[in-house]
Amino acid sequence: MVTIRVPLVEQRDASYDILIAPGLIQQLDKVLPQYCPAAAYAVISDSHVGKLYGESIAKHVSGGGCQVELITFPAGESNKTRDTWAALSDRMLAAHLGRDCAVIALGGGVVNDVGGFVAATYLRGVPLVQVPTTLLAMIDSSIGGKTGVDVPAGKNLLGAFHQPRVVIADPELLGSLSSVQLAAGLAEAVKHGAIADAEYFAFLENEYAAIFAKHAPALERVVRRSVEIKAAVVAQDEREKGKRAILNFGHTVGHAIEATSKYEILHGEAVAIGMVYESRLAETLGIAATGTSQRISAVLERLHLPVERPDASDVDDLIAAMRADKKVRAGEIHLALPSAIGRAYGSDGQGWTVPVAEATIRQGLVNT
Ligand code: GLY
Repeated sequence: MVTIRVPLVEQRDASYDILIAPGLIQQLDKVLPQYCPAAAYAVISDSHVGKLYGESIAKHVSGGGCQVELITFPAGESNKTRDTWAALSDRMLAAHLGRDCAVIALGGGVVNDVGGFVAATYLRGVPLVQVPTTLLAMIDSSIGGKTGVDVPAGKNLLGAFHQPRVVIADPELLGSLSSVQLAAGLAEAVKHGAIADAEYFAFLENEYAAIFAKHAPALERVVRRSVEIKAAVVAQDEREKGKRAILNFGHTVGHAIEATSKYEILHGEAVAIGMVYESRLAETLGIAATGTSQRISAVLERLHLPVERPDASDVDDLIAAMRADKKVRAGEIHLALPSAIGRAYGSDGQGWTVPVAEATIRQGLVNT
């Protein structure tokens, strides 16, 4: 088993481990008492993952002899809402789960976020275990402690920081992942390479076929290296006051594309498109080396990801959505950008994001 520690500085006690091993899901009855003992567990999942794994996971968890409630909600980003948060919380209250319970968020990014937010708020906060079932969840949304829901004004605008006690990543679960969902997760892997590790980026460029074919060594290297990168960044900046902003590369344009598509475009697909436009802007602004955007776009295409915004998207709507972004400061849109493949722009002194004039962003959104 690979164990990657997230050593938090602000709340040392909240430091946690990410466990990666094939078949780990079948050992929950042993792992949970060690990392997150509780009198009862609420397994929160969505309709899709709940059907695939809910019952068997509940059985593994109750192997430890405790109460287990499996609670599901309809799958999809459009259900990452206050209503879902309220319904899940009410179900836990109806099951009389007390402060000695813990939440297990079993699923993809939506489940990680909304399940985490339930854990952050239920009876003012109960322990959380993340059990990601998609690549995107394994390498991104299960790590870092950001939880929340979308609201009509924008994505993730209501939420809380709530660190998991442990993240349990079983790469065998990726076997049932569709190629569309696999590609969506790989967009975040490309982001990790682009902002933090040129060698990893080159590995994605060279081994894309093996990765996309789910060859175990290639896919496990992706999981491990991306988890290492994400864990290292969030450990340095638990509450996104500084360096952690670099993880938002591709996400300002990406979130706008995702939200204006009414969540028909997957998060990872929208981030892929966002990275292409944002890296092109970085070149225009003289921040990124020439050719950075071309390499990002080329590897994304090899990984079957979209690289242009949908024809139906409207620049005014995209700009309005960007203005609702949490990174807007004093009315200015800020972008997290790479300065070269493998290196994020910024430093503690000069800040980790760049204010970009609306007119420049508008020009950059023109399809080439
Ligand atoms: N939950 C994802 C993050 O904290 O980045």
